[in-house]
This record gives sequence, C-alpha cells and structure tokens, in this order.
Amino acid sequence: MTTTPETLRKVYIETLGCQMNKADSELMLGLLSREGFEPTLAMEEADLAILNTCQIRENAEDKAYNYLHRWRKLKSTKPGLKIAMAGCVAQQAKGDAFERVPFVDLVLGTQNIHQLPQLVRRAFDEGATHMVAADKQKERSTFDYFDALTTPQIRQDNGVSAWVTVIEGCNYFCTYCVVPYTRGRQISRSPESILQEAQRLVAEGYKEITLLGQTVDAYGHDLNDRQVDLADLFELLHPLEGLERIRFMTSHPLDLSDRIIEAIATLPKVMEYIHIPMQAGDDEVLQRMRRGYSAQEYYALCDKLHQRIPNLTLSGDYIVGFPGEDEAQFLKTVYSVGRSGIYAANTAAYSARQQTPAAIWEQRYAEQRVSEADKQERLQTLNDTITKNALARNQALVGHTVEVLVEGPSKRNPLRLTGRTRGNRVVNFETDHEPMAALVGALVGVTITEAHPFSLFGHHTSVSV
Ligand code: SAH
Ligand code: SF4
Ligand code: F3S
Repeated sequence: MTTTPETLRKVYIETLGCQMNKADSELMLGLLSREGFEPTLAMEEADLAILNTCQIRENAEDKAYNYLHRWRKLKSTKPGLKIAMAGCVAQQAKGDAFERVPFVDLVLGTQNIHQLPQLVRRAFDEGATHMVAADKQKERSTFDYFDALTTPQIRQDNGVSAWVTVIEGCNYFCTYCVVPYTRGRQISRSPESILQEAQRLVAEGYKEITLLGQTVDAYGHDLNDRQVDLADLFELLHPLEGLERIRFMTSHPLDLSDRIIEAIATLPKVMEYIHIPMQAGDDEVLQRMRRGYSAQEYYALCDKLHQRIPNLTLSGDYIVGFPGEDEAQFLKTVYSVGRSGIYAANTAAYSARQQTPAAIWEQRYAEQRVSEADKQERLQTLNDTITKNALARNQALVGHTVEVLVEGPSKRNPLRLTGRTRGNRVVNFETDHEPMAALVGALVGVTITEAHPFSLFGHHTSVSV
C-alpha cells in the first residue's frame, strides 16, 4: 500500500482488560502506522476500529459485545468502516464470534498480532471480510508475535512510563481462570529484544519501564538453552542511562525466587513494589483454586519480603464467592489483607468462565454456588477492609517526604501535578516551580500533607531527591 499523506487512514482503538492488552494495542498501532494508518481518538473519524477485548469475567465479555453492537450502528451510517475484534474474547470465540457480531470484518487472536497488517490490507484492498487469525503457537520457533515487537509501538501513555511485555501466557491453570486458554503457554521474549525496546524507550525520554507478564517472575523459565531469569533482566536494564525506575507485574507467589527478591532489595532502580495476588485466605479454597500454596506459605513469603525489602508496598487480587466458599472461609480472606500487609487490591466476585473446571463444578453441584447477594455482600466487606487498611498506611506517610516520578498535570486539577511514589502510590501535589511542566519526567521530593485511601496529597519540596 502506498502511504502518502493524502491516503492516511485513521484507526481508532479501544482497549479493555489488563496492561498486556494495553501493550498489545500499542503494538497494533505501531504495525498499522507502517501501513499508512494514523491513530485517532474520535471513533466517528475512523476508517478502521479495533476492539481489544478481555474475557476474564462475564461482565468483561459482555462489555466487549456491547461495544461492538454500538459500533455496528456507526457502520450502518459509514459502510466503509472496517471493524476488527482482537484480544482474549476474540481468541476464545474465533470464527464463532461472527454468529453474535456478523458485521465484524476480522477476528484477531492474542498471538496473531503480527498478521494484522496483512489482514487489514485484504479488508481494504480486496474487500475481504469475516477473516479469522486466532491460532495459538505452541513452539517458540513459530512464535512471530515477539518478532513483531521489533516494530516501534505507538505509545498511548504519558510519555514517562511505558509497558514492556517480557513473557506471554500462563502455565498455571488456576481452576477459575481463562488466561491460559486465551493467552496460551508461557513464552519468554529474548533478553536482547527486551533490551532493544528499553533502549528505544529511554532514547524517547521514558523514565520508567514496567516489565509485563501474567507470571512475570517466571520470565526465562522456558528459555531452556539460556540461564536467564527476571533478576538477570533487571541487571541487564539497570545500567541504562536515563532510565530511573523499573517495575514488574504480575508476580505469582510460587515464582518469586530468592534471587529476584535479592535483586529488588539491592538494585536501586528496581522499585520496592510487588503485585502478588493471594486470591483467597482459606487453604481449602486455595486448593480448589489450584493456586499451589497455603495461606501460611503465602504469609511466610510476605514476611520474608517485608523483612528483606524496607519500605515495601504489596498489592494483590482477591476473588470472593468462589464455588463452595462459606462465610468462615471468606472471613479468612478478610483477615489476610492485614496479615500480609497488602496496601491495595483488585477484588472481584467469582464469575464462572466456560472451559474452566470451577465453572463445571458450579453446574454439577448446585450447592457449591454462592448466591449473587452473598457475593456482593462479601465484596463490599472486603473492599471496606482494604480501603481502611490503605488509608491507615497512607496516613503513616503524612509529614514525610517521598520520591515521586512526575507523570503530568493532575486530571482533576490541572494546576497540580501527579506522579507515583516508589511504592506505586498516586501523589497529587502543588509546586512553585516555573514552568510546572518542566518537572514532568523528573524525580522530585514531595512532602505529604494529606492522605486518602488510594492517593496522597502534598507539596513539592525539592527538585531532585
Ligand atoms: N496472573 C495473575 C492474575 C491474572 S487475572 C495471578 O495469577 O495473580 C487478574 C485477576 O482476575 C486475577 O488475579 C483474579 O483475581 C481475577 N480473576 C480471574 N479469573 C476470575 C474469575 N473467573 N472470576 C473472578 N475473578 C477472576
Ligand atoms: Fe490465571 Fe492463575 Fe495464570 Fe494468574 S496464575 S493468569 S490467575 S491461571
Ligand atoms: Fe483480560 Fe486477557 Fe488480560 S482475559 S485480564 S485481557 S490476559
């Protein structure tokens, strides 16, 4: 396709789900820019609209189809509009998606992103429709997805912190979770390719990189011919000049090795923040979830982390109302928040997902089902506990000066700046610095004056810390 400015087409992308989807969307935009597409934030301007979907819970999947049905209306007024469905719902549904959304032109699986340019070309040049590319790759040698990452992404972030995918997929098969089905098995990207992307980011002025994976601490385990793990990756990126902060997520309690803990404790650019979901506080529930650890083992790990890493912030995820969970078991989850020293957590009511063993138990054993009302009540109780703990932890910071990486003006109040602490807590602050925008991307000292559960407020006190 020729790409003169007159022929630039516009692509609109909507991203649902986790950071891995966000990173994938940036890659899709990067691949499409080579095809003469430029991103637009206005859906009505789009020649191509992509929905990057999430399947994690029923409401996420419903949301995806609702979006597409809204887009259908637009397509009826603009017949030239091409619609692509990508991400985890697309991966699961494959060609069956057309039964529900026949107006979609192409379905793109999570490991087929590199095929997007070719499919889009066929859609525009040949009028092809109902195309499907959703084969999961089992072999490293055929895994072209990472090769596509040599294409510069079009970032949709704040220009300060960027996502970098380092490992795809998951091998755990927790009994409630679709991710191993939608994302396939763990496949690690080569250290060289990650370093290359990091160098590119730093050259563009990025200060913070978050290494992404569903089980990021398992990085390298599948690279049998190489002795490399997440700690090595930290070491590799650490010397990059201009790079200030390295983050990583999500950690699985079984993969967080002593080597990785040591690296977090000793490498100054690696942040003292770990997102390490426990999911539930009761051993029987954990076992049925197939998490692979007991509550005591999880607490022992948290204790070790708190001891070894001063000023550590931990966050996690919890599911309430897992099949068979009774009130006493649920209360152990509530207890676990304080016991493990979790600052913040994503919480959700259990949602049955097709293909997963837990969904089958629910169908087979009606008595295992927790009522919707109970789920919602438990969710509220757990959220209240987390909020209370978070507030107490933030209040302890009042009067202290913390290191903040400035991300930009605060969305609510453009006269203030916003950024995050080393522990990933949001800080909004005022400054006398002129011009204020010159601080974006800088590490500054902020003295905390006010604590809210999930954000802090303060005053800028030093240009650097
Ligand atoms: N890899 C991460 C989590 C990935 S999915 C880990 O193992 O911790 C993100 C979160 O969605 C999970 O931590 C879990 O809390 C939630 N989740 C996954 N499947 C779910 C389901 N069927 N119902 C409700 N929540 C679910
Ligand atoms: Fe899902 Fe479990 Fe894998 Fe996390 S570890 S992505 S919860 S299967
Ligand atoms: Fe959702 Fe897929 Fe991420 S199911 S949470 S977008 S891996």
